[in-house]
This record gives sequence, C-alpha cells and structure tokens, in this order.
Amino acid sequence: MRNKVTKAIFPVAGLGTRFLPATKSVPKEIMTLVDQPLVQYAIDEARAAGIKEFIFVTSRGKGALEDYFDHAPQLEQELKKKGKEKLLEILRSTNMDSGEIAYIRQHKALGLGHAVWCARRLIGNEPFAVMLPDDVIAADKPCLQQMVEAYEETGGNMVAAMEVPADKASSYGILDVAEDMGAMVKVGGMVEKPEPGTAPSNLAVIGRYILSPQILRNLNQKQTGAGGEIQLTDAIAQQIGSEEGVYGYRFNGQRYDCGSKAGFLQATVAFGLAREDLRDDLEAYLHEIVAARKAAE
Ligand code: G1P
Repeated sequence: MRNKVTKAIFPVAGLGTRFLPATKSVPKEIMTLVDQPLVQYAIDEARAAGIKEFIFVTSRGKGALEDYFDHAPQLEQELKKKGKEKLLEILRSTNMDSGEIAYIRQHKALGLGHAVWCARRLIGNEPFAVMLPDDVIAADKPCLQQMVEAYEETGGNMVAAMEVPADKASSYGILDVAEDMGAMVKVGGMVEKPEPGTAPSNLAVIGRYILSPQILRNLNQKQTGAGGEIQLTDAIAQQIGSEEGVYGYRFNGQRYDCGSKAGFLQATVAFGLAREDLRDDLEAYLHEIVAARKAAE
C-alpha cells in the first residue's frame, strides 16, 4: 500500500508586488475572488483530495492570513443572536481545527524550492502535496483529487501539467516528455523558466505537486537555478531516471493565473458566472458593456 498524501504545503511568502498598492496591507492570498479569499479555493481543493494537515510558509506581514483561519467567536455570537444561520454555516465552514494548520516563516525570499524546504521538519518522511494558491483551477473533480487518484497508480513525483502558448513558456517550469500516455506523461527533463526559444515543449508545470520526501533531501543542497533562486523544479528534476521517477498529469479543468491582474479578473468573471446567485445579472451586464464598447468603436 502506498502512503496516503495527508499533508500539503502552501507557499505564501511572496510580496505580491504585482498587486501593489493593494498588497501594501493585504496579503495577496486573502484578496477576494467573488466572496472568498484566494487561499480558500486551494484549501477546499486540498480537503477534497484528503489533505488533513495544512502547512503555510509565510513571511513578515502575513498576519491577516493567520487571522482569517482563526475562529471568530464574537462574529459567530452576533450571527447566532440575529438568527443568520446561513452566514453562520459559511463562516464555520472556513474554520480550521487546532493542530490542523501550521505556519512556518521563510525568513529570506530565496525561491520556491527554499520555501518548500522550510517545511521539511513538519513533513518528515512521507509524500506530500504542494499547492500554489495563485493557480486557481475550476474543475468538476478538484485538480489535486485527480492527481491523488493518478498517483495511486504511479507513486513517485507528480506535477500538474498544461499546454501553454510557446511565447509564454519562459514564465513556467517546462517538461521534456519522455513518454506520452495521454493524461499522464513520463518526464524526461524539466527546466525552470527556459530562455525564449529554448523550451523543450510547451507543456508547463502548474502549481499542484505530489512529491516524495526525497525532494526535501535534494533541496538540502541549496542549489540555485533560474533567477538565482532555489527552484523546486530543479529538485524534482533530480529524481528523473531514479526508481521513483517524475510524472506530469494533464488535469481536467480550467486554470486561472491569479498571480496576474488579467488572470485574476478573468477568474472573477468566470467564478461569478458559475454562481447561480450572480449569473444572470453579471451576464446581462457583460453583454451590455461589450455591446456598448463595440458601438463606440
Ligand atoms: C512557479 C514554478 C513554475 C511553475 C509556476 C506555475 O513559478 O516555479 O515552475 O510553472 O509556478 O504557476 P512562479 O509563477 O512562482 O514564478
């Protein structure tokens, strides 16, 4: 029997400079997508995949993120008094139990690989997931759950994968495919943010990973890579050709890059349209505004 994946690392130490001035006081991860903080989508997805321990790698100035996961007894009291059962239910569904969530500080921004390595003592010697909350994935079956099911067959290391336009490849970790089995690919090489024109394919790594503890040992070497940072991609690439191997998984679903303003706006519209309570008004408004823009051209 393979070890179950019950721990997930959420690297949330980034400064979120692309969203200044908002991120001057609001951590990017709790910026609102419709009516939930970005990070709640990742938490819900992780829970659906069987994750029981949530490890956040944070940095200075992320206090509001920790508060978000705390119980809010006063607010609960108020809502109870007013008989607002529905809101109470929503509020309670976001509560984290004691011991379910842990925070580790990354003291220096040395890269994604380093952020993951900071959580090594909480992971120990078992497989674990990594989720980048910037990558929001809308899917019938949550992306990490799809991966956990695929991982039951393969074991080893698995990264979520998606084809991207060739001119965008230099923004991602890119896979060199050794064997294409449809949804699953066996990875023969991996390169973080390849120079334009040098990418081995257009199959990009998206922010969901299931990794073996060997990755943490690889990260002990603190090797720097693209951008002078300690890259998670490089630590995973070291396992290519090993017995455990590395797999890419083409998930079903639509990914939104909420680390960019355009991606965040697109996600807002898409998630708004997916909500029954908002759909009709939002759709009518979008038609109206697009027609008005066309008429003005
Ligand atoms: C990170 C990873 C990269 C991956 C990307 C997915 O990059 O380093 O391999 O393709 O997430 O979103 P970042 O976007 O943090 O620069």
